[in-house]
Amino acid sequence: MIRDYIKKFKRKKFYHDIIESLIRALEAKDIYTKGHSDRVAKMAEDMCKELGIRGRTKETIHIAAHLHDIGKIGVPDEILNKPGKLTDNEWEKIKLHPTIGHDILGNSKELKQISKIVLHHHERWDGGGYPMGIKEKEIPVGSRIIAICDSIDAITSKRSYKNAMSWECCRTEIEKNLSIMFDPTFGKAALKLIPTWSQELKYPKNQCEYKYEIIKN
Ligand SMILES: [Fe+2]
Ligand SMILES: [Fe+2]
Repeated sequence: MIRDYIKKFKRKKFYHDIIESLIRALEAKDIYTKGHSDRVAKMAEDMCKELGIRGRTKETIHIAAHLHDIGKIGVPDEILNKPGKLTDNEWEKIKLHPTIGHDILGNSKELKQISKIVLHHHERWDGGGYPMGIKEKEIPVGSRIIAICDSIDAITSKRSYKNAMSWECCRTEIEKNLSIMFDPTFGKAALKLIPTWSQELKYPKNQCEYKYEIIKN
C-alpha cells in the first residue's frame, strides 16, 4: 500500500520535473520570461485552492499553467527578445504561440485537456481575445484562471518592452478589467490573493521600477 503510494508520488514528481525542464528550455530562449511560467503556475494553483477546485482538475490547470507559453518555442528569437515596440507583423507572429503550443501538446491523448487550456489562455471574457475570440464561460476554466495569473505576472515583471509595475497598480488594472478581460468571479479571487503573492513570488534581481505601457502578453 505505502509502496504503491510512494511509486505514484515519484511518478507524479517525475512528470512534473519533465515539464519544468521543458519550460527551462523555453526560458533559455526568451530571456525576459525567466521564472514567468513558475510564477503563473504557483498563482494558478493558489487560485484553484481559493476557488475550491481540487484533485485532478487542479493538477491539470497547474500543469497547463507551467506549459501555457510553450508555443513561444516556435516564435523567432529576434521577435521574442526585441527591445521596444513590435511591428504589426511581428505581433501577429507572437499571437500564434497559443496555437503552436496546442499543436505541440495536442499530439498526445493524455495532454488533450492541457492543450485546450493552453490554446485559449489569451481569450478575453468579452470575446476580444485570441486565437478564437470565444467569450465568458465558453472559455475553459483553466484558461480563464491562467489569463489572470499571466497578466498579473506581465504587469509586475520587467519585459523587453516595459518595466515592472507596483502591486498597487496591478490591483487597479485587474479591478478595471473585471468582466472585460477577466472572469469577474475569478478576478475577485485573484485580488484577495495579491497580498500573499506580493510577499511570496520571486522575481529576477534586475527588476526595474514602475513604468507602464501596454501589456502585450
Ligand atoms: Fe501566452
Ligand atoms: Fe505567459
